[in-house]
Amino acid sequence: MRKPSVFVTRGIPEKGLRLVLESCEAEIWSEEIPPSRHDLLQGVRGKDGLLALLTDRIDAEVMDAAPHLRVISNCAVGMDNVDLAAATARRIPVGNTPDVLTDATADFAFALLLAAARRIVEGVEYVKSGRWKTWNLQVLLGADLAGRTLGIVGFGRIGRAVARRAQGFGLRVIYCDPAVAQDPAGTPTSLDTLLGEADFVSLHVPLTAETCHMINDQSLGRMKSTAVLINTSRGPVVDHDALYRALKARRIFAAGLDVTEPEPLNLDSPLLHLNNCIVLPHLGSASQWTRDQMALLAAENLIAGLDGRRLPHCVNPEVYDITR
Ligand code: DGY
Repeated sequence: MRKPSVFVTRGIPEKGLRLVLESCEAEIWSEEIPPSRHDLLQGVRGKDGLLALLTDRIDAEVMDAAPHLRVISNCAVGMDNVDLAAATARRIPVGNTPDVLTDATADFAFALLLAAARRIVEGVEYVKSGRWKTWNLQVLLGADLAGRTLGIVGFGRIGRAVARRAQGFGLRVIYCDPAVAQDPAGTPTSLDTLLGEADFVSLHVPLTAETCHMINDQSLGRMKSTAVLINTSRGPVVDHDALYRALKARRIFAAGLDVTEPEPLNLDSPLLHLNNCIVLPHLGSASQWTRDQMALLAAENLIAGLDGRRLPHCVNPEVYDITR
């Protein structure tokens, strides 16, 4: 029997790849740089399944290039790169990779928080540039955590995992999430109150029309001048121009960004010239175990869709209720 044909838009960890190759005829984009729009449309043409990364824009045009497409498996938990309405309208189930990256991402948010608060990257530069002459009571002073307030914007899986870590550091946790009225891990509040009260603000919202640039001149203006902003969600949640102005004028203390707009961040971005801003290349889920599990889940979603089974992690389950 003919194996179903799939397009895999990048090399994925061996554990997931093996599963894909066992069940599918796979065309794999093996370059380091994602396929161009043209190559993506070419690659998906005539395929039964698509395994994509968050760097690929999967919209109606891509779906229509593959009229027999039976499943889209996104190797990420965030789904902002996939047009879900277009997929649902075409009755294509879409899968993602939740849970397995929660702890790795929460760890990373905390690593960034500590690094920005305690000026770790500046400290490394201080040593490497030969400025370390002696121990000095007044050099590279940062922010304390114990007894301070952490404001978590978006209290889903990752936001709550960050809250659990915060307990160990003696932080009081407040959160803002219209979908979570009460949670023992923190105190619910409005975004404005959170921004005004928090010493650390950590963003964990999906990217939607509502959250795009939710951190802007106005919201940064509400934050304390001693506050630290951490973003491990999606770059466009923060207006980078506004953030640059706030950091440059020391209207907030520091920022740690694992995600940027665009990705990769342009090398001429002024944020890269600020010593109170740490920018990292979207590494939140980048641990060996986590990436293996993401690849496995993505492969399982893909194969379930090709077999006509319900995806283990389907983000548009309404496709199963649509009758012709
Ligand atoms: C995701 O899965 O959405 C993450 O951003 C990847 O780290």
